Amino acid sequence: MCGIVGYIGNKQAYPILINGLKRLEYRGYDSAGVALLNKEINIFKKKGKVQDLDDYVSDKDISGTIGIGHTRWATHGEPNDLNAHPHTSMNNHFVLIHNGIIENYNRLKEKLIDRGYVFYTDTDTEVLANLIEYVYIKGKVSAEIAVRLALSKVVGAYGLAIICKGEPDKIIAARKGSPLVIGVGEGEYFIASDATPIVEHTKSVIYLNDDDVAILSKDGLSLKTIKNDKLTPKIHKINLDIGELEKNGFDHFMLKEIFEQPRSILDTFRGRVSLDKKEIHLGGLHTVMPKLIEAKRIIIIGCGTSWHAGLVGEYLFEELARIPVEVEYASEFRYRNPIINEDDIVIAISQSGETADTLAAIKLAKQAGATVLGICNVVGSSIPRETHAGVYTHAGPEIGVASTKAFTAQVTVLTMIAMALGYERKTIDKKTFDILINELYSIPSKIEKILKYDSKYLKVSKLYKDSTNFLYLGRGYLFPVALEGALKLKEISYIHAEGYPAAEMKHGPIALIDEKMPVVVLATKDKSYEKIVSNIQEVKARKGIVIAIVSEGDTIIKKMADHVLEIPETREELAALLTVIPLQLLSYHIAVLRNCNVDQPRNLAKSVTVE
Ligand code: G6P
Repeated sequence: MCGIVGYIGNKQAYPILINGLKRLEYRGYDSAGVALLNKEINIFKKKGKVQDLDDYVSDKDISGTIGIGHTRWATHGEPNDLNAHPHTSMNNHFVLIHNGIIENYNRLKEKLIDRGYVFYTDTDTEVLANLIEYVYIKGKVSAEIAVRLALSKVVGAYGLAIICKGEPDKIIAARKGSPLVIGVGEGEYFIASDATPIVEHTKSVIYLNDDDVAILSKDGLSLKTIKNDKLTPKIHKINLDIGELEKNGFDHFMLKEIFEQPRSILDTFRGRVSLDKKEIHLGGLHTVMPKLIEAKRIIIIGCGTSWHAGLVGEYLFEELARIPVEVEYASEFRYRNPIINEDDIVIAISQSGETADTLAAIKLAKQAGATVLGICNVVGSSIPRETHAGVYTHAGPEIGVASTKAFTAQVTVLTMIAMALGYERKTIDKKTFDILINELYSIPSKIEKILKYDSKYLKVSKLYKDSTNFLYLGRGYLFPVALEGALKLKEISYIHAEGYPAAEMKHGPIALIDEKMPVVVLATKDKSYEKIVSNIQEVKARKGIVIAIVSEGDTIIKKMADHVLEIPETREELAALLTVIPLQLLSYHIAVLRNCNVDQPRNLAKSVTVE
């Protein structure tokens, strides 16, 4: 979390920094700040959104061709002007911005206090600024050496951009655990937490690895490790269209991303699933396919929505490929001494490719000798670079904090892998395999159809926008969708919501049901249809309000539910891809009706790079 930008070149830095911060605001929006080098270092910072900062500097001198900027998701110290980045060292030699957490900051702080340092903020970043300065003054070394020596004493995670008053021709950037990308232009360089602020200036980027330090000046870049080993920068070309980063006429990124799903799902399987030849080809898994086919067990790890996609994966792999699956929260997995065997396949799912817990869990699984695969959306992010092999979801940039199109893309990838494995392991016959391919191809147009009836979702949302609780019920493949529907609602509208396996309702949640409780039931035609009909009866018997998502033409549930929202029929294995769309729309409309900030819900961040 936290977004970092930097610029060094011949242009005015401020417009580049502020636009960059707006692109990175999904990473945190507690405060924002910039430092601009122009004879002196001018620092402007403000609690609140990037726009608040932009308004604040409107009458200030913001000139300068070198600068750094930051948008914060608070860890140490409440969000206020003082704790906002950039931070300055006590004697004003260094100004820096930081994404991550310095875990041993307390010990370092005490030592610096003993040596006469005074602290003005509650942040771990100020400790780092003072530590670098202490080494710089005491050791009489260059800024670069001071940074490298100071970082060798630090435990924790950082993405850093640093300016030194005494060496005003450069920016020093360093990475450990928190992502950092350098954009390479003509006589100019850009720094950012991800490529989105860079893409409008250059398509050439360098992804920093852990323990890399980059020294950027107008005339060139030098890359080394913190131990001073020289590195040769590897320049990658990014394939990101600037239009994908705009709202394109939609009120919110979330709505745009919901409506993009027919295309994003197609992009996920296009070129990988052949409708004519009835084949699935996953290039990123080519080298590990023999191991996958022989797998005795698959462990899926992820957080948030990605974990929900993993649960759908469990049903898919067990049913289609008959491989036992365990799905784990990355944060629990990494700390509970899990049993990992060398022949295990671990699949890490992550939209951002940067989630700290998922990354740490991957490292643990690799140490134990497992084969680790990634399912990620952001190309070049840390997780795909850490895993042995993987499949990109190609859903395009997801900017709304509440994940939508990333979920359906993840489920699409899991479906493709499970189908390919089922075919190779002969646990599904050719006929079923072919039917599933045909059905997968029909999913985008079926989603189009659901989206056409958006006004129906708005109508139901208006009726229940003031409810204080919601219950979401589903069975089989649709149980994880119920969890995802509840998560979507609570994260953007702040209504308490719970997802439950429908049959489990009678072991607790049924006690909550009364005439005020909306219960969203996923009740499409599948093998547990009759069971879910009984669950609806149970809710109605207690006067609960039933909003049922049903298959087109359903007449039975229509008679008992308060509202039925029809969606096209599909195979059970693919039903998560369709049933989640109504739940995304419901939560979106309810949040808008409650005047909530849909794209930037309170306290959340899109990319969680701290534990
Ligand atoms: C945050 C986001 C969620 C996301 C989760 C996991 O909590 O707000 O939308 O599902 O992180 O992120 P990842 O990038 O690993 O999928």
